[in-house]
Amino acid sequence: MRAREATLPDAEQIHGLIAAYSGDGTLLPRSLAEICENVRDFVVLEHDGHIIGCGALHLYGLHLAEIRSITVDPNRQRGGGGKLLVKALLAQAKKHKVTCVCLFTRIPDFFARMGFTVAAHQDLPDKIHKDCHKCPRLYYCDEVAMVKGTVPSFAILPPPKNWLKIQG
Ligand SMILES: CC(C)(COP(=O)(O)OP(=O)(O)OC[C@H]1O[C@@H](n2cnc3c(N)ncnc32)[C@H](O)[C@@H]1OP(=O)(O)O)[C@@H](O)C(=O)NCCC(=O)NCCS
Repeated sequence: MRAREATLPDAEQIHGLIAAYSGDGTLLPRSLAEICENVRDFVVLEHDGHIIGCGALHLYGLHLAEIRSITVDPNRQRGGGGKLLVKALLAQAKKHKVTCVCLFTRIPDFFARMGFTVAAHQDLPDKIHKDCHKCPRLYYCDEVAMVKGTVPSFAILPPPKNWLKIQG
């Protein structure tokens, strides 16, 4: 089993892996077009020539990147694949000299094993600006924000139009 950078021919399998967990809200849905457009963000997990997992690293800037869309085929879980994906994504962040990697999750124990610690949602305004403000669960989010590295002191994305409403 190995993790490698994804290429366009992997896009359909990545789409299938994510779709298996987006129906119940475990993962954010990603369209095939969106995956193709952002395929350079992805790493895939390969076993015997088959793709059995994937994960993405979204770059906000030197101050922040986010692990997203991370999943392993349900029949292949608990075999070390998830850990390999996280390590590969952290290596990508290191290559880009990013100082903080964040994620939002409902399984904080999994990521805590890899050195992530719990953060406040407000500490990650870029994530809020990008995704949360348009999420139906904005005011009752059940995901834990986690970080590895130095929590950023600024945001690069402009505040959304309803920013004051969110803060209030
Ligand atoms: C989360 C997920 C990617 C983990 O993949 P995996 O291949 O099962 O993980 P690994 O086998 O590499 O596990 C690494 C370690 O974490 C532990 N672990 C795995 N899943 C865990 C969980 N849900 N909660 C706590 N610990 C977990 C393993 O026991 C292992 O511990 P060890 O290092 O002491 O042996 C996989 O369960 C998955 O695809 N889940 C559905 C999608 C999802 O929830 N993605 C995360 C969204 S933020």
